[in-house]
Amino acid sequence: MDLGLKDQVAIVTGGSRGIGRAAAEALLREGAKVVVASMRPESVEAAVKELSALGTVEGIAADVAVEADVVRLVAETVDRFGGLDVMVANAGIAGDIANLADMSVAQWDEMINIHMRGSFLCGREAARAMRSGGRRGRIVTIGSVSGFENEAEGGHYCAAKAGIHGLTRSMAIDFAQWGIRANCIAPGWVRTDMTVDDIPAPGEAIAGVGVLNRVGEPEELANAIVFLASERCGFMTGSTVVVDGGQLAYAPDPAPAS
Ligand SMILES: NC(=O)c1ccc[n+]([C@@H]2O[C@H](COP(=O)([O-])OP(=O)(O)OC[C@H]3O[C@@H](n4cnc5c(N)ncnc54)[C@H](O)[C@@H]3O)[C@@H](O)[C@H]2O)c1
Repeated sequence: MDLGLKDQVAIVTGGSRGIGRAAAEALLREGAKVVVASMRPESVEAAVKELSALGTVEGIAADVAVEADVVRLVAETVDRFGGLDVMVANAGIAGDIANLADMSVAQWDEMINIHMRGSFLCGREAARAMRSGGRRGRIVTIGSVSGFENEAEGGHYCAAKAGIHGLTRSMAIDFAQWGIRANCIAPGWVRTDMTVDDIPAPGEAIAGVGVLNRVGEPEELANAIVFLASERCGFMTGSTVVVDGGQLAYAPDPAPAS
């Protein structure tokens, strides 16, 4: 199926590795021109080098929590490619876990700033560029199953992800007048550097992780991101699409208390 992404211009934040990197690769395979954005210049450069065989890709180092960086990221993209069609606001961290009773303001702020402020800034700057360029753009944010079902000692992460789900609905409402759509992906467990210490090796089953009893691979998330970045989902906006191997669908029987 032609997704209509050929020569469209896309930014992927956190595109140097993990889900973002897989999304950048999938967008390139669809013929999009991709800007990979991430914190550290050396990881951006390395990703661009590896991806360049697939198509037109450039890298821009930017911290999504810093307004000036996101403004520059979008402005430079528009300068280089003449406009912006797709923003994938994917950058994120797992952060330090802590009971909310013991969580510092620094831990809370870091999490909220990267996820929520970052998604807001990426959405705002993308919408401004799409509006002034007259492009019917698409914004894809990344939430989490943790925005629906909370984990212990991850209150800041869960709050940030639930916030991204809500923020995406508001983007959909506010940006619709310019033909811009915004949707969110809520991944379950996915094998990336963020989770590598917590999940089993490739091919090993993991009981109780959803219906499929396995974690997802970044490419499986990328497929969903590319669909939401395309015009093939023209009647979707403000949605949060769960891609979790059935994790939210399945409540295992409770074990007897020992
Ligand atoms: N891996 C999972 O199981 C999982 C599950 C649900 C949601 N997610 C979400 O998916 C997204 C991608 O996660 P991943 O698993 O690929 O993680 P990852 O750690 O492999 O990649 C994260 C990327 O974000 C970048 N990044 C971090 N802080 C940044 C900042 N301030 N500015 C710019 N870039 C920054 C990193 O450099 C890296 O490129 C995150 O938003 C994460 O919360 C992941």
